Amino acid sequence: MRGIILAGGNGTRLRPLSLVGSKQLAPVYDKPMIYYPLSVLMLAGISEVLIITRPAETALFRRLFGDGGRLGMSISYVAQDEPRGIADAFRVGADHIGGEDCALILGDNLFHGADLPPMLRSSAAGMNGCVLFAHQVADPEKFGVAEVDRAGRLVAIEEKPERPRSNLAIPGLYFFDGEVVDIAKRLTPSARGELEITDVLRAYLKAGRADLMWLGRGVTWLDTGTHDSLLEAGMFVRDVQRRQGTRIACVEEIAMHMGFIGADDCHRLGEEMSSSPYGRYVMNCARAYGRLPASARLRGRP
Ligand code: DAU
Repeated sequence: MRGIILAGGNGTRLRPLSLVGSKQLAPVYDKPMIYYPLSVLMLAGISEVLIITRPAETALFRRLFGDGGRLGMSISYVAQDEPRGIADAFRVGADHIGGEDCALILGDNLFHGADLPPMLRSSAAGMNGCVLFAHQVADPEKFGVAEVDRAGRLVAIEEKPERPRSNLAIPGLYFFDGEVVDIAKRLTPSARGELEITDVLRAYLKAGRADLMWLGRGVTWLDTGTHDSLLEAGMFVRDVQRRQGTRIACVEEIAMHMGFIGADDCHRLGEEMSSSPYGRYVMNCARAYGRLPASARLRGRP
């Protein structure tokens, strides 16, 4: 399965922070925002990732991850010349998808929880068309919204409805089969002028090929699209990390746990940052790895 991180857009809600820099490189406590969505794809077992950026910022992302080889991955980059909408990711990324199954994650979405890794892997494995997720929120009108019947089956999807028919938001993480490229190519812009991800999801729903998975209490989902939500996400990460002594979205640690790199490689990556607590954490993880029982690996991450 191929992965795509959509990390472009104008970030208008984060101005002036996003005027000359990428919002998805803004710090969320101790690491750039993009580490969080990247770690989700890695935990789904995906090692081939395309990062879609604004044209001026491709080089910055490349400086951060290179070709991905250091993490045992293949990471490539493509620019989206205009923010035409989330579904444009499948047009811009068509070559990368190449008819395979793919996972799309929005570059400003952060997920955390022990339930997440098994849920990701079962979604990737048992997919029949597409998988989308639902998460209960207090302000559904700000998101894509899923309507379900009494049996919990998905019956309708709406983008930012004025009067939401449920409190189930659809987070920015989706799994699709290779047909998604053709579906995206047939889309026309919505009333607000964007190629909507909800229109893609609706096409799968109409064909009876959309599975909804509930993110229960075991998973936290945070959107980092506003100044407040960005700060709150940073504080959440700091609090969990301090309390648990682990790090959320530590891509070096996850690469080791997923078998993309060995413990020695992981240690070397930590050494390069050894004057920061993050670097020392990576080195400690690498040292401890061999002593961990198999059941403790990949627990509670990202
Ligand atoms: O966060 C989840 C929500 O994300 C979903 O519930 C909605 O259905 C979905 O439309 C989306 O809503 P947002 O209002 O948060 O989308 P936004 O325009 O902020 O874009 C999300 C990310 O994708 C953001 O990091 C910028 C990037 N992006 C967006 C567009 C429209 C691009 O890279 N290119 C684009 O053309």
